[in-house]
Amino acid sequence: MCGIIGYCGQKPGAAIVIEALKRLEYRGYDSAGIASLCDGRLLIKKDAGKLEEVVHKQGLAELPGNVTVGHTRWATHGAVTQANAHPHSDCTGRIAVVHNGIIENNQELRRELTGLGHRFTSDTDTEVIAHLLEDELKNGRALEQVVLSIVPRLEGSYAFLAASLDDPGKIVGTRKNNPLVVGIDSPNYYISSDALAFSTYTNKVMTLDDNEVVVLSPGRIEFLDARGSKTVKQVKQLDHSWAENSRGIYPHFMLKEIMEQADVLGQTIQQDQKTFNRIALDILRARQVIITACGSSRYAALVGRYLFSKVGKRFCDVVMASEFGYFADSVDKGTVVVAVSQSGETADVVEGVKAAKAAEAQVISIVNRPNSILADMSDHVIYLNCGPEIAVAATKSFLSQLAIFYLLSYAMVSSFDEAASSLIGLCGETTRVLDWNKSELIRLSETLKDSSDFYYLARGINFAIASEGALKLKEISYIHAEGMPAGELKHGTLALIEPGTPVVVICPADYTFSETLSNAIEAKSRGAYIIGVSDKESDVYDSWIRIPRVEELLYPMVAVVPLQLLAYYLAISRGCDPDKPRNLAKSVTVK
Ligand code: M6R
Repeated sequence: MCGIIGYCGQKPGAAIVIEALKRLEYRGYDSAGIASLCDGRLLIKKDAGKLEEVVHKQGLAELPGNVTVGHTRWATHGAVTQANAHPHSDCTGRIAVVHNGIIENNQELRRELTGLGHRFTSDTDTEVIAHLLEDELKNGRALEQVVLSIVPRLEGSYAFLAASLDDPGKIVGTRKNNPLVVGIDSPNYYISSDALAFSTYTNKVMTLDDNEVVVLSPGRIEFLDARGSKTVKQVKQLDHSWAENSRGIYPHFMLKEIMEQADVLGQTIQQDQKTFNRIALDILRARQVIITACGSSRYAALVGRYLFSKVGKRFCDVVMASEFGYFADSVDKGTVVVAVSQSGETADVVEGVKAAKAAEAQVISIVNRPNSILADMSDHVIYLNCGPEIAVAATKSFLSQLAIFYLLSYAMVSSFDEAASSLIGLCGETTRVLDWNKSELIRLSETLKDSSDFYYLARGINFAIASEGALKLKEISYIHAEGMPAGELKHGTLALIEPGTPVVVICPADYTFSETLSNAIEAKSRGAYIIGVSDKESDVYDSWIRIPRVEELLYPMVAVVPLQLLAYYLAISRGCDPDKPRNLAKSVTVK
């Protein structure tokens, strides 16, 4: 969470940094700010509020200078206020720091620095970095040497950029467990949490290893290891699709991402069959297989678990990444850990994978973003190939994850090709299901927008789709929603059903049909308003969301799409911004 950007070159920095911040807003959007070095002055402008508001209110675009850093915030330490917005400075106002991550020992450092006479102006953990730099810079050392000397004092995870009037004309950056990538377009250099920020200017990137330091000045770039010795880095090419960041004809990224899922599925299928076969064999041979992920990625993993079992006859467990560490004792060399993450930087997943690697497990990751921390840590990486997903709510990446699990499970029985052609056949169905149901979903969103609770029920492989549908709804419309296996309803939740309570029942005409329908009838008898997501009509449904008849194991992929659209329309009916839900950010880089 939080996006950082630095620009150092020959062009005016403010415009470039503001554009980059717009592309980083998915990482946090409660405050924004920039700092620029110009004619012996350090100018900082920042405020609470969405980027666009701060740009206008504070006149960010007017900042002169071509050594500029910027930040978009998702608050962790300190309320959403102007004082807590980044960049942060030291007592002298000669240093600017932007940071993503958490300095866990910030309280101890703050106490120590206050004792030494430093005055703090914010409640953030970040500010300690600026004051630590201040003390060291007094000795006239180069900014990179000072950064190298203070970094061992920082506990936690971070990627930060520093600029200073005492060593002007440069930006120094470093990272530990949080992403930082450099864009090269000599003599112009960019540095950010995500290459998307500068991808309109260059697709040549260099990534930093943990504890490495990079020094950018116009026309010059240098990498140093933790001991200060120069390191040689390779330039990587970024796929051009990662520069794309427009909503096109759509009012929101979320709607665009829902609508483009047929194409995305086509791209996801483009995989190397040999790699899949090799990974499938490793999964089959492992003593145990654990899938770990958070949020929507975990729900995709739950579908994957059914597929592994049904197709590959391989039982595996899915462990929530934030809980993974508590099971680490039973992870060993014979374990294959499959880590699923759209961003590839979710802190809990990264932490879990670290524990797995320490136990010598084999790590396979399923990620979307290229050059991610998770991809770098893994023995094998499978990319979703679904391009940048900007809306906070996962949609197209979820569908891609389901497709990858489908392909993997069929690779276990040497039938990758067969699975790929079934998925090709499915592309059109994901569009058809939207066309069929759009008007009914709009009608439902108007009728049900004042409901306080929604329940989502399903069985078997579709159970995770109930949870995913509920997650979509709560995160963007702020309506309480729960997804559960339909059979669990009568073990407690049924007590909450009142006349009119919306219950979404995912009820495809498969092996789960009759039992799920019985559960729907139980809810209806207590007055529930039943929304049936099914290819088979029934008079149990008060509203029928029609899905196409597909092969049994593909139902999750056609059932989830209208649920995404239902959540979207409900958010719109309630006046919520579906792309930027309150309190959330797309990349959760803190534990
Ligand atoms: O990048 P990841 O897939 O690791 O993200 C995991 C969750 O934070 C993410 O799926 C979150 O739950 C989404 N906002 C759900 O729509």
